[in-house]
Amino acid sequence: MEKLWTGVTAGKTDPLADDFNSSIRFDSRMFREDIRGSMVHAAMLERCGILTPEENDVLQAGLASVLADLESGALPIDPTAEDIHMFVEQELTKRVGDAGKKLHTARSRNDQVALDLRLCLRREIGEIRALAAALIRAVTEQAEAHREAVLPGYTHLQRAQPLSFGHHLMAYAMMLLRDMDRLSDCAVRMNVSPIGCCALAGTTWPTDRVWEGEQLGFDASALNSMDAVSDRDFCLELMSGLSILMMHLSRFSEEIILWSSWEFRFVELSDAYTTGSSIMPQKRNPDMAELVRGKTGRVYGDLMALFTTMKGLPLAYNKDMQEDKERVFDACDTAKMCLRVFAPMIASMTVREDNMLAAARTGFINATDLADYLAGKGEPFRSAYKLTGQIVARCAAEGLTLEELPLNVYQSYSPLFEEDLYGEIDLRRCVEKRTSVGGTSPASVEAQIKYVKEMLDDGKDIH
Ligand code: ARG
Repeated sequence: MEKLWTGVTAGKTDPLADDFNSSIRFDSRMFREDIRGSMVHAAMLERCGILTPEENDVLQAGLASVLADLESGALPIDPTAEDIHMFVEQELTKRVGDAGKKLHTARSRNDQVALDLRLCLRREIGEIRALAAALIRAVTEQAEAHREAVLPGYTHLQRAQPLSFGHHLMAYAMMLLRDMDRLSDCAVRMNVSPIGCCALAGTTWPTDRVWEGEQLGFDASALNSMDAVSDRDFCLELMSGLSILMMHLSRFSEEIILWSSWEFRFVELSDAYTTGSSIMPQKRNPDMAELVRGKTGRVYGDLMALFTTMKGLPLAYNKDMQEDKERVFDACDTAKMCLRVFAPMIASMTVREDNMLAAARTGFINATDLADYLAGKGEPFRSAYKLTGQIVARCAAEGLTLEELPLNVYQSYSPLFEEDLYGEIDLRRCVEKRTSVGGTSPASVEAQIKYVKEMLDDGKDIH
């Protein structure tokens, strides 16, 4: 294919250099955005008297036919083309002749690629947010179904205090809700139009780039042409948000991996999200959760790669920046795949409330409640804590739980102990009593579920 930029050079680059230079392998996925941008650009050129209405009509029809043929597959993407922008323009000119050669008036690939990428990522953000919302719904449904289940809560992976499983799950719903929020926040800054900034300095043509941006659904037009064509902070911001999202999914995965182990047995993943071993017939491996945990590193890598690419670039456009797309597309694709598999994995998981409760019965996770009981009766908390520690040590030595230790033994530690202590250290009561805002009590869990559902239903958070 003859190069559109043949001019000062003969365009006779080495095929190896052509291949090295080409981005069509990964930017052809922006063909819809590229054509949409070109349609609006032609319309703007006509509106400003730069193209005749007839030329614009020809361009609109030509671009529509290229789009239709790309959609249907009738027009294969030429793998030797330099990029999607060149490919579309060349194909258009092939189809409509000279009018095609006027399309690139008052435009550069530098503002064109910045435009296409913003349009493309804006759509990606919408898709990722919808997938995150579906996951939050799945998590919230499980939380609602198992809000009464009591399990040990951990700190340092040591049994700490009794929790409602619903409360534990809603922690992830909250994190994911913030992830959605971060993405929409990023979409706001991303939704500023770079089109019309041209190569770097703007244009001498009497264009209307504000109108052009509005037609493409942008909230504003960039105020500095060099900034608009040379920054990729919107990609970095998106990948930062995706990295945080992946970090949350990875922690969730880690817990699911633990919970589904024989050591815990708190959940059973459905067969649809479990794999077997090629040698050990008994194995049920949580591969999906492990892969999500593993792919988190990949998204962090995407982010770090582009950070590193961008860090030393002088203004304005540099070809280094072509490296942006593979990274940001990979981060989006990876996050989408993970979310897609995560939601049904959670929805179909069996929760073993019996095993959770059995685990909660050991480990003295109601010791804080025993200390609180004494403190409530007037013993200063610090000494109540100490006495409780001694009682726990005794129970551990005798192989008893706190519930099993007789009242007379309790009373040998403090006369403040009475029969009602057993009610106070009952595991369910321990959960019910934590009524502080955001605590694990049933009322608090209900409030969290209601809040999250409202956020999702209002679409407040759906961009
Ligand atoms: N394929 C290029 C990219 O992805 C398009 C921009 C090229 N601009 C240029 N002046 N060579 O960044």
